[in-house]
Amino acid sequence: MKKIALTLTTIGLISSVYANSVINATKMTTDLSKITVDSKEWKSAKFTDIVLYPQTTIKMNDKNANTKNSDVKAKKAKVAVLVNDKDIAFLVKWADGTKSVQAGHNSSYADGFAIQFPENFSNPKELPYIGMGSEGRNVVIHLQKAVDAFYEPNGNQDVAHQVSRNNSPYFEKELQVFDAKVKAIASNDYQKAYVGAGFRSMTEIKDGSSKFSSDMQYGKKEWSGTLNRPLKDDYLDLTKNGSFPVAFAIWDGENSNRDGLKLLSTWVPIVIDTKNDTLKVVDTLTTPVKGDVKKGQELAMANCAACHAFKGTEGVTPSPYMAPNLSNIGGYSTADYLRESILNPQAALVPGYNRNAHKNFAWYNTDEKGNRTSTMPPFNWMQPQEVEDLVAFLQTLKAEVEK
Ligand code: HEC
Repeated sequence: MKKIALTLTTIGLISSVYANSVINATKMTTDLSKITVDSKEWKSAKFTDIVLYPQTTIKMNDKNANTKNSDVKAKKAKVAVLVNDKDIAFLVKWADGTKSVQAGHNSSYADGFAIQFPENFSNPKELPYIGMGSEGRNVVIHLQKAVDAFYEPNGNQDVAHQVSRNNSPYFEKELQVFDAKVKAIASNDYQKAYVGAGFRSMTEIKDGSSKFSSDMQYGKKEWSGTLNRPLKDDYLDLTKNGSFPVAFAIWDGENSNRDGLKLLSTWVPIVIDTKNDTLKVVDTLTTPVKGDVKKGQELAMANCAACHAFKGTEGVTPSPYMAPNLSNIGGYSTADYLRESILNPQAALVPGYNRNAHKNFAWYNTDEKGNRTSTMPPFNWMQPQEVEDLVAFLQTLKAEVEK
């Protein structure tokens, strides 16, 4: 009797908290290249729940934004995917109590969403850094923001910065003329695609080689956003394998979200064809970790809390941003990313950080050639089971999900 009780307690401690969603695409024969939120094709689509967690890696340079985001909950979104021979289309729905649309001439922040693809996913254990890629591990990102109108001097949709009305050289009558001009040539859409290897290295794809379009609509306190793009173009080949990983991001304008201040999912497997190969991506991203959360917590307090802040390190870590803040790391990381971060920090560097948050401790050193070396020591001396225990614990670090 006693023996059974003991076994049960041990099992109770073993974590399998992590079970990632798998999104199965619905096969279509109709044209998907012009799909919008209203298209009837979505009626036959199946929706899968995913969760997006507040990205708490760095501290913003904006007190107001930091206060607004100090206790943000994770958000559920519903995602449906359609696929035909040529194209793939996504529909993402998420609740948002306030519609924030950026008007061309003020500096408000807009709601928006992004869908991110790794350029190379042949080894799903080594995916890019989730926050817009990392050196040597590029991502392709499609971004759509809710924008009313923005100043377009040439109508090419390539205006990176909004023109501030207050900074315009026009007054009174001239200002009215200016406004009319903005209205006439403004695009009411803000959709872009980038190749990213980290926060500050986003290169916009605007050579026309990537054909895509996105759409965003608000109703009943909910946003719906679509993206359609070819399965294959110069930047991405999603046909290679029956499955590939995708990550989703959402910006909430009401909370002053922009750039790295957003909600982010982990890499989620999308299945478009049930080939043998499919299993590689799906298995890698969904296999539960067999680790002891409690032991992992002890290991983390002993080995990681000198640099990283997470639940339980209050008063231990010198600064909440001494190193990337791990408060939500379990929400937007794969198990393999966590293993790799522990054993070989150099493999995928967290690309950018806010120097103001911890002036005495650099996250990486840069040599004359611009090569960066992580300042995190590798913990490759740990026993494999200890690493699993740590990973199981790190996976529990994430915000509560909004009801
Ligand atoms: C000496 C300080 C230091 C220690 C100790 C340390 N780290 Fe780090 N860690 C860093 C720095 C700096 C980075 C950012 C640079 C990089 O990506 O390697 C980082 C990055 C990470 C990341 C990636 C974070 C992200 O947002 O993607 C994870 C995960 C991580 N560390 C886990 C750990 C774990 C687990 C331990 C303990 C076993 C640990 N670290 C110990 C400094 C440290």
